[in-house]
Amino acid sequence: MSAIELESIHKVYQTGRQSVHALRGVTLRVEEGQVYGIIGQSGAGKSTLLRCINLLERPTEGTVTVAGKRLTDLPARALQRERARIGMIFQHFHLLQSATVADNVAFPLRLAGVARRQARARVGELLELVGLGGYEHKYPTQLSGGQKQRVAIARALANHPSVLLCDEATSALDPNTTRAILDLLLDIQRRLGLTIVMVTHEMAVVQRVCDRVAVMDHGQVVEEGPLTEVFVSPRHEVTRSLLEADDPEPDQVRPRSGGTVARIVCAGAAAEGPFLKEAAAHTSTQFTILHGKVDSVKDQPYARLTVEWLGEPAHVQGAFQWLRERGCRVDVRDEEGWRDAR
Ligand SMILES: Nc1ncnc2c1ncn2[C@@H]1O[C@H](COP(=O)(O)OP(=O)(O)O)[C@@H](O)[C@H]1O
Ligand SMILES: [Mg+2]
Repeated sequence: MSAIELESIHKVYQTGRQSVHALRGVTLRVEEGQVYGIIGQSGAGKSTLLRCINLLERPTEGTVTVAGKRLTDLPARALQRERARIGMIFQHFHLLQSATVADNVAFPLRLAGVARRQARARVGELLELVGLGGYEHKYPTQLSGGQKQRVAIARALANHPSVLLCDEATSALDPNTTRAILDLLLDIQRRLGLTIVMVTHEMAVVQRVCDRVAVMDHGQVVEEGPLTEVFVSPRHEVTRSLLEADDPEPDQVRPRSGGTVARIVCAGAAAEGPFLKEAAAHTSTQFTILHGKVDSVKDQPYARLTVEWLGEPAHVQGAFQWLRERGCRVDVRDEEGWRDAR
């Protein structure tokens, strides 16, 4: 059973005489225990889609099934019960400013009718889980952004949800705090076996935590797949431009020594070891790195490098072929831009 199934979701917003077709037939499936990313530019429909999962926004058409229950068919009472098992966090935390940390976290417990003593114990547990033990009596204004998001996470987890929805949860945070919050989410996800759906406009967020990703554009999913596949072999223009956001400007990647400029991307086993050196050694060629990074996607090694390759043209092609056979994607730079020069 999938954790979440969305089937042919359409959403049309009516505002006065204007209508906005925000979702145009989205079908996707999130498996249990996955961290699933939804990425796309502003206005693509990501937040709308996320809000359709717990029916904060009711789809105009289509069905939503969470943990085997078809939410779009449920009467109000039953829907409310199921919705309590879906946690959600937001970019701007949405905390009650006039309530203490403990009261913020206890809020959904009170709504669910949990007795005061039980609720207090649960709040203590949740604050420990998010690294805020002892913060019960503080107020949101006394906390940093990262701490506020930790409170929001504790609150979202109060009723033991099976699914956690995150809408740009780290977009208001600095890079270090972003990393800490993402690591916390991963840790919680592993410990509790949660399913997480993470909406973001930042590829770096997806890269760090997601198992699978859907790319949205104009209300549609234009590409979907396992993270390494999407990062190494993007098929859609929107995905490519999201991935190229951190690449050097074209004039930074002019050949310096008359060689061929190429972009080499690989992940997993293909990205391990001194593979550029090996490609050069096998083909009696040389290379210089113009720009690039070697880090990871989720827990797999990942490399995205711009290089200048030097040698006999046929040998240079041989080096690229060697890299492709290893599982790397190789695109060559010419006046037009990057192209797969096979
Ligand atoms: N409540 C609303 N009323 C009318 N239009 C909306 C509403 N919410 C979102 N939209 C429109 O729907 C489209 C998708 O918005 P949204 O889901 O917020 O995109 P994203 O989260 O990817 O930036 C946009 O054109 C936006 O203006
Ligand atoms: Mg949004």
